[in-house]
Amino acid sequence: HEADAYRTDLMTITRFVLNEQSKYPDSRGDFTILLSNIVLGCKFVCSAVNKAGLAKLIGLAGETNIQGEEQKKLDVLSNDVFVKAFVSSGRTSVLVSEEDEEATFVESSQRGKYCVVFDPLDGSSNIDCGVSIGTIFGIYTMNHNNEPTTEDVLKPGNEMVAAGYCMYGSSCMLVLSSGTGVHGFTLDPSLGEFILTHPDIKIPTKGNIYSVNEGNAQNWDGPTTKYVERCKYPKDGSPAKSLRYVGSMVADVHRTLLYGGIFLYPADKKSPNGKLRVLYEVFPMAFLMEQAGGQAFTGKKRALDLVPEKIHERSPIFLGSYDDVEEIKALYATEE
Ligand code: AHG
Ligand code: MN
Ligand code: MN
Ligand code: MN
Repeated sequence: HEADAYRTDLMTITRFVLNEQSKYPDSRGDFTILLSNIVLGCKFVCSAVNKAGLAKLIGLAGETNIQGEEQKKLDVLSNDVFVKAFVSSGRTSVLVSEEDEEATFVESSQRGKYCVVFDPLDGSSNIDCGVSIGTIFGIYTMNHNNEPTTEDVLKPGNEMVAAGYCMYGSSCMLVLSSGTGVHGFTLDPSLGEFILTHPDIKIPTKGNIYSVNEGNAQNWDGPTTKYVERCKYPKDGSPAKSLRYVGSMVADVHRTLLYGGIFLYPADKKSPNGKLRVLYEVFPMAFLMEQAGGQAFTGKKRALDLVPEKIHERSPIFLGSYDDVEEIKALYATEE
């Protein structure tokens, strides 16, 4: 009836994080402040994405980034917004962005205890055709008070304290974990608030969707080829899996998290380390998958145990439902 239409126990992302923070009496609210700046950045990008076509925000910016990719206007705009939001938060010391060749070291008067690695706009190739795109971020803490260096972000993913993504799709959803489960918040544009809509997300232990760019099949290695064959021509009489591939990691991972199944960007002959970047794509999504009861594997080891040596390093990645990833692990184990 009428009363149900209006939820009055509005759990906004800020209140949710404050509740979490109250469990740590000595916390000074730094994470809450950092998060509120991430939220600000996501709201800005959401608004820019929604009017990109109208506000002449589609198309190329005329620059090329360290990845050798032509930067889109929204890549550059989103990057500027997040860098400024993090620096002005006064809670960060080192920033690594997909769009910046070098790490950003915050000047001493504005330094804080967090280091943020982020992909300001993920799925750029989908901007101009209006298909879902996103922002991905991972958070480390500084464990010293000396000058910050890249060593402060060249840490294994198992040292991340929080990670999340925002997906700019039919709705704007921010999915976040700070180590106690995964929680999804949907932006209510009429309030300008992210409201808790998906508390404690758990990924199904097995799914019937596989998500990979089959266009790379001729360059795959044995185990990946065998696994994808099994998805399409199951030996044990089970139904074939469905293929779903958006081409924006945030959209493919979000669907995998909610529906189950597996997302893979394997190594191939052309790119032996695959395509996805360790710090700001592989680690945050692996962190979330494990927090949701799934797992993430590189073909050799648990993704979060990787120790990056360069800030834009890449790795193959197989992530999603626990049982589905187990199958890939078994195939790579026999290959050794
Ligand atoms: P980005 O737009 O941030 O550079 O990331 C693009 C990535 C990722 O979003 C997606 O999973 C992958 O590129 C798709 O690559 P292919 O087009 O090679 O399948
Ligand atoms: Mn890119
Ligand atoms: Mn990306
Ligand atoms: Mn990107």
